[in-house]
Amino acid sequence: MDLVPVTEGGTEFLVPVQDPARAFPPGSSPVFFNPRMALSRDATTLLLRGIPLESYLDAMGATGARGIRVAGECRIPVTINDRDTLAVDVIQKNAAYAGVPAEITQCDVNLLLSSRRFDAVDLDPFGTPAPFVDAAARSARKYLFVTATDTAPLCGAHGRAGARRYFAHPVNNEYHRETGLRTLLGFIVREVVKYDRGLEPLLSFTREHAIRLHLKIHPGVRHADETLDRMGFILQCNRCFYRLEEPGLVPSGGQCTCGGKFIPIGPLYLGAINHPGVISSMLDRLPSVPLAAGKELFRLLSLLQEELPTSSHYDYHRMARSLHTSPPPIETVLRRVEDSGYRVSRAHYSGTAIKTDAPVGVLERAINGE
Ligand SMILES: C[S@@+](CC[C@H](N)C(=O)[O-])C[C@H]1O[C@@H](n2cnc3c(N)ncnc32)[C@H](O)[C@@H]1O
Ligand SMILES: [Zn+2]
Repeated sequence: MDLVPVTEGGTEFLVPVQDPARAFPPGSSPVFFNPRMALSRDATTLLLRGIPLESYLDAMGATGARGIRVAGECRIPVTINDRDTLAVDVIQKNAAYAGVPAEITQCDVNLLLSSRRFDAVDLDPFGTPAPFVDAAARSARKYLFVTATDTAPLCGAHGRAGARRYFAHPVNNEYHRETGLRTLLGFIVREVVKYDRGLEPLLSFTREHAIRLHLKIHPGVRHADETLDRMGFILQCNRCFYRLEEPGLVPSGGQCTCGGKFIPIGPLYLGAINHPGVISSMLDRLPSVPLAAGKELFRLLSLLQEELPTSSHYDYHRMARSLHTSPPPIETVLRRVEDSGYRVSRAHYSGTAIKTDAPVGVLERAINGE
């Protein structure tokens, strides 16, 4: 396998030469590397620069890009694992090439996670992380980081797959990106609380076809119960834009005042998905740190800092269509809602998404210019 050097953030490492005649990763080389995930790796290294750890496991390393960066840029002792022989060979070359200390293992991830504990466990699979979260929940002492790229099942486009993997009812509506992230988070919560441990999301985002979560683990029954109390459903009217959050383990259903029927979406996590203190300290550190996608990460973190913690958003273009009006600039709508005395923000994953605690009527009037 031919390898070429790349620089990502503050680290230089080797990646397989992609075959331009074949589909873009993972099809185009024997060991997976996707340069488009550089922002995701930037985010994790920037976060970990502020968190002292004694061990970090890159559980599904491929080239080892994540683990090598964490070792080099965050000075954290790392273990990098992959079950694939070719991947382990590239990881070994990369640790030597980047000159970073790393323990390298070749193991099925569930076996490794069942036999050892790490301060932080990072799952970065192809597609769904569902088969690995239980073992990761037992192995991780303090932090659990998870990527999912099976956004179609999580967002309700492949509803049966979503039900099988996450035992949830995702719905493919206009805010499916938000509920996809929260359905994944809700699944992880259920895998973690059964071990009497709670979770606190520090940094969560969705970008292109990936969801990325950085979660802090809080041991103890009290934390587990508090985390469970943040689980619930969104009840979405099937006729109008009205929806409500319903905490608890069983959705009630019922009828909207418009006569429509409430469709439950979930179970999902209803709490805040980002920690304001963590985001602002990452923003403080960002200008002085070498990053591959620094500008994009700055934009993303700035949006996350402003974003309201509501579990759904309104697509204001869609609302404008249903009101038979053309949508004004988003800033105008945001200002009008704010002037009406409500909290309002954008959402990081869409230029037409608006989050607010205002009733639907207030938002409709802001779009109509009334
Ligand atoms: C998406 S790639 C990881 C990408 C990498 N973290 C990065 O940032 O470039 C997933 C890797 O997980 C490995 N893998 C898949 N299933 C595994 C399992 N059950 N145990 C260990 N490794 C596994 C694959 O061999 C593949 O290299
Ligand atoms: Zn309704």
